[in-house]
Amino acid sequence: MIERSKTVMNDLVAAIRNVMLKHEITNEELRFAVKYLKETANTEFELELMMENFFEITTAHVTNNKNSGSASNIAGPFFLEDAPDIGSEGEIKTLEEGEHLPIVIRGQIKDLAGKPISGVKLDVWHSTPRGTYSGVHEGIPSEYYRAKLTTDEMGYYKVRTTKPVPYQIPDNGNTGRLLKSMGRHAWRPAHVHFKAHKPGLQEHITQVYFNGEDYVDSDCCEAVIDELVIPFVEENGEQVIIKNFVLDAA
Ligand SMILES: [Fe+2]
Repeated sequence: MIERSKTVMNDLVAAIRNVMLKHEITNEELRFAVKYLKETANTEFELELMMENFFEITTAHVTNNKNSGSASNIAGPFFLEDAPDIGSEGEIKTLEEGEHLPIVIRGQIKDLAGKPISGVKLDVWHSTPRGTYSGVHEGIPSEYYRAKLTTDEMGYYKVRTTKPVPYQIPDNGNTGRLLKSMGRHAWRPAHVHFKAHKPGLQEHITQVYFNGEDYVDSDCCEAVIDELVIPFVEENGEQVIIKNFVLDAA
């Protein structure tokens, strides 16, 4: 660990120095940066938000570079343990509010050899039709808009819910100001979060995005990966997202 820290920190300092030299950063600008970081760290959740917004996706790329299964993606800050257990097929509790568009998410989970995996715990969570998260915002009880599925003997799962919408990350602090100064906005495209786990397998955290929708090409977290952009298909009059998983061994 000490060796790793030595190598990484030397590279990090060298990378920052290269940027400073390239852009002829002045002492005044360095002092402004220190003040900005100090202010960020002294504001509740702001440093976490900034680090997650700019760097969480990079840790997913590190995972993806090592793995052979489905693409991982960022977790974001809104996962909660103890979502309602609904078995291999069921319904996520939703409120009749906003634009309430019913959708189905279904798929199959396999291992690297193509064998279906039963008994995988699959957490699914996503925004309300207003772009908020249950148990976090607006007093929506935490058993809404999230569920824990378990794949059946052939690795299948299926869940009915409502379509999430794009939302803005908090943009009234230093993270929002930084994005603005970079010519960027603070919106995320609509997405569904997943976390799959079973002993013997790597825990797998990912998201899916919807083909052709707003902000898919300009996510503020830069987390959209082509493989995770999925089209809706119509099945028996229902709008369906098919998300299959291939999970790496632990
Ligand atoms: Fe999210």
